[in-house]
Amino acid sequence: MFSKDTYIKRRQQLAQDVKQGLILIVGNSDVAFNYPANQYTFRQDSTFRYFFGYDIQGLIGVIDAESGEEYLFGEEVDMADIIWTGPIPSLKERATEIGVRNSGTIKDLRNLMDKAVFDGRRVHFVPPYRAENVEFIADILHLDYRYIQAYVSKELIAACVKQRSIKSAEEIAEIEKAIETAYTMHTTMMHMAKNEGTFEYEIAGTMEGIALAGGGPVSFPIILTTHGEILHGHDHSLQIKKGRMIVSDAGCENNMGYCSDITRSVPVGGKFDARQKAVYEAVLDAQLLVPTLCKPNVKYSEVHLAAVERLGEGLKALGLMKGDIKEAVKQGAMGMFMPHGLGHMMGLDVHDMENYGENYVGYDKKNIRSTQFGLASLRLGRELQEGFVITDEPGCYFIPALIDQWRAEKKCIDFINYDEVEKFKDFGGIRIEDDVLITKDGCRILGKPIPKTVAEIENEMTK
Ligand code: GLY
Ligand code: MN
Ligand code: MN
Repeated sequence: MFSKDTYIKRRQQLAQDVKQGLILIVGNSDVAFNYPANQYTFRQDSTFRYFFGYDIQGLIGVIDAESGEEYLFGEEVDMADIIWTGPIPSLKERATEIGVRNSGTIKDLRNLMDKAVFDGRRVHFVPPYRAENVEFIADILHLDYRYIQAYVSKELIAACVKQRSIKSAEEIAEIEKAIETAYTMHTTMMHMAKNEGTFEYEIAGTMEGIALAGGGPVSFPIILTTHGEILHGHDHSLQIKKGRMIVSDAGCENNMGYCSDITRSVPVGGKFDARQKAVYEAVLDAQLLVPTLCKPNVKYSEVHLAAVERLGEGLKALGLMKGDIKEAVKQGAMGMFMPHGLGHMMGLDVHDMENYGENYVGYDKKNIRSTQFGLASLRLGRELQEGFVITDEPGCYFIPALIDQWRAEKKCIDFINYDEVEKFKDFGGIRIEDDVLITKDGCRILGKPIPKTVAEIENEMTK
């Protein structure tokens, strides 16, 4: 955990921003996997971890935004807990450790909430995303669980987004540790991908083991596929074959819960063929453009548009696109090749704070999400600020069903050379992703550089 002061300051700022009422922050509990005593790997709620620090089941924090009084609730440990899980500090000790004055049981929490409801005080909470917590919050606040999302606090969401969007130096150091582990995950992938016949699951499993050995789980289920055109391809059942590109999109959480999210795309066998190299370099060109544009006050939606334009120019040089590429971008033609957004925030969540609602995190009153196919999938469109950690992850995909549909509809026929695109239906896809910190007057790619150019990847794959 960070020092007590970090959590005290975060909670004080939150109370100051929310101004009135009580703030209820529910930590996660264990969830049954296939029977109650066999549980999924525990994952703490990120809001709870940010403000109360603990990566422990069954804790609930409350902050009185008016009086500043703070509470930590949970069940006191009994002998059975000690026998099965070892010595556990008391709630009081846990509360003191993070600078919280009051502690109590779930019954005490119920009493506090009953009194708040009776007194007509507002109780703020962020959108719960687990059924157990929906039911719990509805129960203690006497709400109908079916409409729980209608009661979430936009003020609390805004206050959390305001703080969590700006990463402190100690948070950035943790993110860089997670990227250090991702470096080993991806270079190991490169070494394994030279051996034709290896199964995708052997590579994905080895990468996941590296994440675990680094102190935390993967930050999302690993995407490791020779069918990179499937954007979130979690199937790892195929044997890798020469002629295919592997898209490897994977990251981890370090032991403080901070994430990495890196993608590398490499040719099976270790040598790019001419076609692979050409498409790869068009994507790389777009990916390398992004850090030259990122700085405070620049809208990430504008960076997305600049990146897809650069990709479009590259694809035009390959004969896959034609005409005025600026106009092609305007008309949404790039959605054919890159139907996803350029990137997102990253922190304690790999898509940071996405449980609050993407538009509260990535957009604001001045920056409304586009409805255009492709750009509509951009999770972060608003102005960048110093301290944001974001991803830069353009890609190029040849999705046979999408090609067929657009061709049949004669969509963007002035810009897409369908006869040429047809020839790439067996290509798969390419994505390249790094994690980027926005600095005072520019940005910095976080972590030790992971092989990324054609020459660097080919060299790494000889090892
Ligand atoms: N892991 C999905 C992404 O890169 O956003
Ligand atoms: Mn990723
Ligand atoms: Mn990402």
